[in-house]
Amino acid sequence: MTSPVYNFSAGPAVLFRSVLEKAQSELLDFANTGSSVMEISHRSKEFERVNDETEADLRALYNVPDNYKILFMQGGATAQFSAVVYNLIPGGKSQPADYVVTGAWSEKAVAEAKGLGAKVNVVCNTKASGHNGSVPPVSEWKFSPDAAFVFYVDNETIHGVEFPEFPFDAVPAGVPVVCDMSSNILSRPCDVSKYGVIFAGAQKNIGPAGVTVVIIREDLLSRKSPDFPCPVCLDYKICAANKSLYNTPPTFAIYLSGLVFKHLIAIGGIGAITAHNNRKAEVLYDAIEKSSGFYRCPVQPAYRSRMNLPFRIYKDGQPSEALESLFVKEAEARRMSQLKGHRSVGGIRASLYNALPLEASAALAAFMTEFAGKHA
Ligand SMILES: Cc1ncc(COP(=O)(O)O)c(C=O)c1O
Repeated sequence: MTSPVYNFSAGPAVLFRSVLEKAQSELLDFANTGSSVMEISHRSKEFERVNDETEADLRALYNVPDNYKILFMQGGATAQFSAVVYNLIPGGKSQPADYVVTGAWSEKAVAEAKGLGAKVNVVCNTKASGHNGSVPPVSEWKFSPDAAFVFYVDNETIHGVEFPEFPFDAVPAGVPVVCDMSSNILSRPCDVSKYGVIFAGAQKNIGPAGVTVVIIREDLLSRKSPDFPCPVCLDYKICAANKSLYNTPPTFAIYLSGLVFKHLIAIGGIGAITAHNNRKAEVLYDAIEKSSGFYRCPVQPAYRSRMNLPFRIYKDGQPSEALESLFVKEAEARRMSQLKGHRSVGGIRASLYNALPLEASAALAAFMTEFAGKHA
């Protein structure tokens, strides 16, 4: 067991217990400095080693090609919604930026880009179906041939919609794909070479909140336009040129992310964690399917997320908030925490990130069956 409770939080989320124990053991004296890692200069040789190893381990874990830079930035994934506009639209306000909208986070990315004055083209949008994974066939997507980039969110954390695979072949030649992978990075294999930029806030599958990982193809580092003056702390080129140490980075978050990468490598890398994640999701989707409509996941099967499972509890053909509250309360009493759905969609949401043990998902499935037996 990695945690004393089974923590289903959507983020900040459960961390591997062995990682927390390692951090605890080094907390008061990191690398014989006599200080914690939080108390030493980001320019010290000890921290530079942390920074370098964290980058190298992520590169190894995700097979990041040599022509890609890995950056550790701040401001969360939300700041990246702006950073992609500041950094990646060489034609300025007259060049379109394409967005695929499949949930709340891609909607927010669109709103941010529009707010900054970017010429946004929405390639497709599932809002009318309540972002339930009814993604139209690619033949109906409306790409701009001259887009600066195509942006999409690989896993929509609130709606529980995950691309089984992004249709890279449909993207017009030469247009880089930019991906918000905040809630499923490192959860399954990924061919980084198909992307222009991948970014992810750390607080779900990587480490503590505070650091945002950006993986960027080198030729995209110099695509700024004077139409979008870029704040220095969001400038990919400056960040890359300074190995993410232009200004003070979130040192503790980088250190802890580095421990997570080492842990993932030690347990067998992406192959091992993928099998673990698939199994956890199967167990819960199975419990939903076998409940004869008592539990219902609104997402189309092909787009169901392995990381975030939203579902409702039905009584007399209607979602029952009363039963959902009771479910969350009783689950908590059994040490299964943070199952309440996102405030914008209600219901229940179980988040099954890398560090959640299989036992957690099995325990929740068993509880679901028992609860349905009493209340269906
Ligand atoms: C897919 C996705 N993108 C963006 C964000 C926003 O991240 P942050 O709060 O780090 O800015 C979240 C947060 O949950 C998310 O799940």
